[in-house]
Amino acid sequence: MKVLAILYDGGKAAREEPRLLGTVENELGLREFLESRGHEFIVSSDKDGPDSFFEKHIVDAEVLITTPFHPGYLTADLVEKAKELKICITAGVGSDHIDLDAAVTKKIQVLEVSGSNVVSVAEHVVMSILLLVRNFVPAHEMIERGDWQVSEIARNAFDLEGKVVGTIGAGRIGYRVLQRLLPFDCKELLYYDYAPLPADAAKAVRARRVEDLKEFVSQCDLVTVNCPLHDGTRGLVNAELLKHFKKGAWLVNTARGAICDKDAVAAAVKSGQLNGYAGDVWNVQPAPKDHVWRQMKNPLGGGNGMTPHYSGTTLDAQARYAAGTKSILQNFFTGKEQEPGNVIVGLGKYETKAYGQH
Ligand code: NAI
Repeated sequence: MKVLAILYDGGKAAREEPRLLGTVENELGLREFLESRGHEFIVSSDKDGPDSFFEKHIVDAEVLITTPFHPGYLTADLVEKAKELKICITAGVGSDHIDLDAAVTKKIQVLEVSGSNVVSVAEHVVMSILLLVRNFVPAHEMIERGDWQVSEIARNAFDLEGKVVGTIGAGRIGYRVLQRLLPFDCKELLYYDYAPLPADAAKAVRARRVEDLKEFVSQCDLVTVNCPLHDGTRGLVNAELLKHFKKGAWLVNTARGAICDKDAVAAAVKSGQLNGYAGDVWNVQPAPKDHVWRQMKNPLGGGNGMTPHYSGTTLDAQARYAAGTKSILQNFFTGKEQEPGNVIVGLGKYETKAYGQH
């Protein structure tokens, strides 16, 4: 079979660090596994536009492997052209870069390595919460500049203790965030999700569900976004919803950039309606150099905790999603049943409730 993988360029780092498995250089460690079984394996980072490697080879590839970090966008048009495609595997979690409805129609399976990087992301969320609430980034920048003016930082630094924190989405990542926040003695932990947590799970993290989104955000000092991107969440955090946030609330989004309206968030940070925004996901990746989220600042010159998309691609996570990709391939080649939790789209239907209510 022809197996096409779109991965990110690792360059010098990947040549020096073989555990950077999710790179073009290290090919998820799959080459020998695939070639020894007689499969053709082609790998590239060149993914955008009609002349790209991706668009050229998708027409006769039978297996597509992509990662959310450097997404090969498989649009409905490309699905139409991908006549031989049988399975799309996301090396990681989050398959919104695949047109899932088109995959359902064309009976192309879509699988991801569920759970492979959920701890990695939950840790990044907790870090991002702390760096915003404690005003860490401007404090560090001050040190690098050679300055020392404690009051300039302390005037916008708070404790997480006593704050109300809420997650939009309480699945694998959202729940792990709640678990990790428990020892911080927040005033309350809230969640908004159409799938309620089992009673004992909610009790274990002392989380209260709020069913109306506006009411939910109006109660939170900090909102963290942990749901997939789909039709029901694209642009969910927009100018209208931001008006219902507490003045000076913080927002952390490591789920998908397009869940938050880019310009509305930048305007809210600039005006101080949001005291800060942090995360690692962008509406287009790689993010253009002039993306407004790179430079946005609150009125006191802080409130930006953006990084490139790496929370779910720690070396620990890469080992797990590379192994998970191999095991999905093995099941596929031998006709063995896939782990049910990994299947997003089965043959002609959604197998998960996480990508909207179908
Ligand atoms: P999951 O499937 O375990 O949980 C998702 C939860 O979101 C489910 O409980 C679902 O009911 C809920 N949800 C769906 N639509 C919703 C809506 N409209 N409003 C409220 N809740 C809604 O998924 P998991 O593993 O927790 O991952 C969540 C997302 O995080 C992924 O889909 C991906 O986009 C993102 N992610 C980001 C990574 C990164 O490196 N930054 C790495 C891994 C995941």
